[in-house]
Amino acid sequence: MLRVRCLRGGSRGAEAAHLIGAMFGRAVTGWVQRTQRALQSTSSAAVAETHLEDEHVTEHAQQDCPVSSYNEWDPLEEVIVGLAENARVPPFTVEVKYFRRGAKWTTAPKPTMSDELYDQDYPIRTVEDRHKLAAQGKFVTTEHEPCFDAADFMRAGRDLFVQRSQVTNYMGIEWMRRHLAPEYKVHVISFKDPNPMHIDATFNIIGPGLVLSNPDRPCKQIDMFKKAGWTIVKPPTPLIPDDHPLWMSSKWLSMNVLMLDEKRVMVDANETTIQKMFESLGIKTVKVSIRHANSLGGGFHCWTTDVRRRGTLQSYFH
Ligand code: NVA
Repeated sequence: MLRVRCLRGGSRGAEAAHLIGAMFGRAVTGWVQRTQRALQSTSSAAVAETHLEDEHVTEHAQQDCPVSSYNEWDPLEEVIVGLAENARVPPFTVEVKYFRRGAKWTTAPKPTMSDELYDQDYPIRTVEDRHKLAAQGKFVTTEHEPCFDAADFMRAGRDLFVQRSQVTNYMGIEWMRRHLAPEYKVHVISFKDPNPMHIDATFNIIGPGLVLSNPDRPCKQIDMFKKAGWTIVKPPTPLIPDDHPLWMSSKWLSMNVLMLDEKRVMVDANETTIQKMFESLGIKTVKVSIRHANSLGGGFHCWTTDVRRRGTLQSYFH
């Protein structure tokens, strides 16, 4: 079962959210039905149904695991897609629902966002300066209080990878580390990137030991992954035209993909070269155009929050 929930204020871009929802309805129903047929031969409990809804909360058959998502590639069963219209801090409707059904509910520290959290003299205009500062580990946010964006983290079972970015500081990372210990280990990784902000167009884990690594932003700790036997895939240069407006991100949204499971990926319909790359890896592509949503600052991974993926907690990093 795949449930798609659209939530105002949860992400960016109303049109794209609706489009993704509609696309899930069309494209995913197809593969869910195929999966169902395959599963029915082995399991009478197989269920395939796709829900599209807008903030309506209804009871769900699965009771034992309302929220569960250990990595970026296990079969996706429920996902939240954000809407930009009326964007604001969303109401706790979804959290209350999951809490009633047994989920643990944690609210991370809310930064006061006072002046001390920002380096007021940070040179935001010169890329060269920012290259130097980023190489020195200096960013626009200070260590005044914990702050982080979830999008600076990537999950691979018991190991999480995070970058110190313009919006995620070491105190925020330390909060996450202590919060998740001892079951999970948080690794800080870094890239040659003058403006790190959200890791999912830089280092996007797409399978067990399989990661897309942005060739323009080499990972400084890549040997750690190679030694652990991971496969590092360099995605091709994005095809998005120079004149396409992008206000909050780079063209590398092409690699900001959403894995529906290990063998199916949601990818931009216009990015034919990365589609070929996925097909060569044995991963089928579900093609959707979200160029207009890219302009608002995000790709498939940005736009979505996994609620539940079917899978178990494992270690993929030794
Ligand atoms: N800031 C990064 C990630 C965007 C999702 C970029 O522009 O590539």
